[in-house]
Amino acid sequence: MSGPAVTRVTIPDIRSRKGGPPLVMLTAADAPTARLADEAGADILLVGDSLAMVALGHETTLSITLDEMIHHAKAVSRARPRALVVGDMPWLTYHLSVEETVRNAGRFIAEAGCGGVKIEGGRKRIRAIGALADAEIAVMGHLGLTPQSVHVMGGFRVQGKTVASAERLVREARLLADAGVFAIVLEGIPAEVARWITAEVPVPTIGIGAGPHCDGQVLVTHDALGLSWGDSPRFVRRYAHWAEEGVTALRRFAEDVRARRYPSAEESYRLPEDEAARLDELAAANEPEEKLR
Ligand code: KIV
Repeated sequence: MSGPAVTRVTIPDIRSRKGGPPLVMLTAADAPTARLADEAGADILLVGDSLAMVALGHETTLSITLDEMIHHAKAVSRARPRALVVGDMPWLTYHLSVEETVRNAGRFIAEAGCGGVKIEGGRKRIRAIGALADAEIAVMGHLGLTPQSVHVMGGFRVQGKTVASAERLVREARLLADAGVFAIVLEGIPAEVARWITAEVPVPTIGIGAGPHCDGQVLVTHDALGLSWGDSPRFVRRYAHWAEEGVTALRRFAEDVRARRYPSAEESYRLPEDEAARLDELAAANEPEEKLR
């Protein structure tokens, strides 16, 4: 039996939010994080390749494969969220040829139930975006600190810090918008540059470490919930401390097990009384007592 009909967020809904109420995007890596973000009212769930780091323990996003991303995107879609689900195309899945790009992106749509895909980069991606548009696949762009370029950038570094590089970013954003992206993530750039880009493009910008002037904001859900270890970048606001709370809770479980406080009688299954009595009789007749303990 199916539940009540849900009105899903669509690509035109997202486009129409340019200059309107800020868009909320959160990452989701599996069914529980999808449920959390969706019930919190996110407009977009990004199955971001950051899950390579926050969920799979990799140092960068470069090691995750297309099959792994599809596996996670399927789990997110299975949560049947109201939000638009966008699949993040991993490194080298949209760089080699347009045919391969379309085939790979199509897997996010056909197999994993995503409504669109995200790719990183500007001018170099225009042919790919055109081919995806021809295949009716909606694309979100991503400019600034693009984590798949970590080695070329020399680390996870803020981009667009000079007027020349800011101008380049504005040109790239215009190119992405002309090519047909439905939104652009702006990551790790000065707030003034993000404001300029936001004023220049007709599609919503969604910021992360890009100041307050974007048309929306995104955070990695694990960061927002404090479900991560070590230092986090300055733009991360932790709305909970799940790592600490989780350790405290699980430590209590360990203590209860060691002190035989868990499980209690209420947390155990019992035989019906007559069966229990018969079992006792049988045990007493057949087995040495110690064996039954
Ligand atoms: O992979 C990801 O989570 C992302 C967001 C940070 C935009 O690309």
